[in-house]
Amino acid sequence: MTTLTIRRPDDWHLHLRDGDMLKAVAPETARDFGRAIIMPNLVPPVVTAADATAYRDRILAALPEGADFKPLMTLYLTEGTDPADLAAAHESGLITAVKLYPAGATTNSDSGVKDINNAMHILEKMAEIGCPLCIHGEVTDSHIDIFDREAVFIDTILDPLRKRLPDLKIISEHITTKNGVDYVKSADKNLAATITTHHLIINRNHILAGGIRPHYYCLPVAKREEHRRALVDAATSGDARFFLGTDSAPHTDPNKLMECGCAGVFSATNTMSCLAHVFETEGKLENLEAFASLNGPTYYGLPVNTETLTLTKQGTPVTFPAKIETSTDPVTLFDPGFPLYWQVA
Ligand code: NCD
Ligand code: ZN
Repeated sequence: MTTLTIRRPDDWHLHLRDGDMLKAVAPETARDFGRAIIMPNLVPPVVTAADATAYRDRILAALPEGADFKPLMTLYLTEGTDPADLAAAHESGLITAVKLYPAGATTNSDSGVKDINNAMHILEKMAEIGCPLCIHGEVTDSHIDIFDREAVFIDTILDPLRKRLPDLKIISEHITTKNGVDYVKSADKNLAATITTHHLIINRNHILAGGIRPHYYCLPVAKREEHRRALVDAATSGDARFFLGTDSAPHTDPNKLMECGCAGVFSATNTMSCLAHVFETEGKLENLEAFASLNGPTYYGLPVNTETLTLTKQGTPVTFPAKIETSTDPVTLFDPGFPLYWQVA
């Protein structure tokens, strides 16, 4: 197969940032994707409906003229979130979901939830009104090994939450482990997971063996190869509970390449080429559309895009810029480590 036409894909987990960075990266996503779930971890975070309205307008203003892209806004859950404000924002269509960050789990998550019991009244409201919850599923206890934080979160937080609120629609975001895959498969309803492009391609050796590679450092951190394999099998299977959330998370090079560098991989620009490569290698190109374009909207209860996107396989490698320029410093694009032949037409 050398040409593949699929419904226009969506990105169910994306960081667009703000200001000059937003202007630099928004066009990179809008080129290939119809919609994206926009992460609310700005400084300060997007907590209220008013915050989300203002941020949505800044995103729309940053898009290239004529761009066919709809940001799907989220609120950043805090223990002080007003359930009435949240419900009104969901009812009006302003927000598509709410994001739970355990406090301190990742970049700009200081105002996240310290004790989920303190947010239970808000989560109950969400279950009642059908507002989906996107979860960064890692515990933050310093005595839990960073490679175990996802598995421990499933056992100690996610599973009890699902038992307590079975009607709450949950997206376990950017899963990185076989434990995450198995847990999602064990659920009969109201649980799905996003998988990033980079977690389908790198394991922890890529970050640490033969020199430290800060551009591969993100959270949740990539795990052992057996976990990457489980993610690839889930993503390429066509199973409707798994779909694309790139977690494309731009940081400028100086912020990545420092003594305590930021977590995040920027993959918006070449994600579709990378995914086509992965799915082709697995002999599963026919399931790329389900993963990137169909399963996400179906789970969220939204229509699939009517437009299409065509990928063509070139005889020689496709080139991408190594870096995206911002008004200050560049952002390095994810390097899959192999040549890419699939090009978005
Ligand atoms: C994200 C960021 O930079 O905002 N970083 C990351 O490594 N994925 C935050 C997040 O989604 O965890
Ligand atoms: Zn993220």
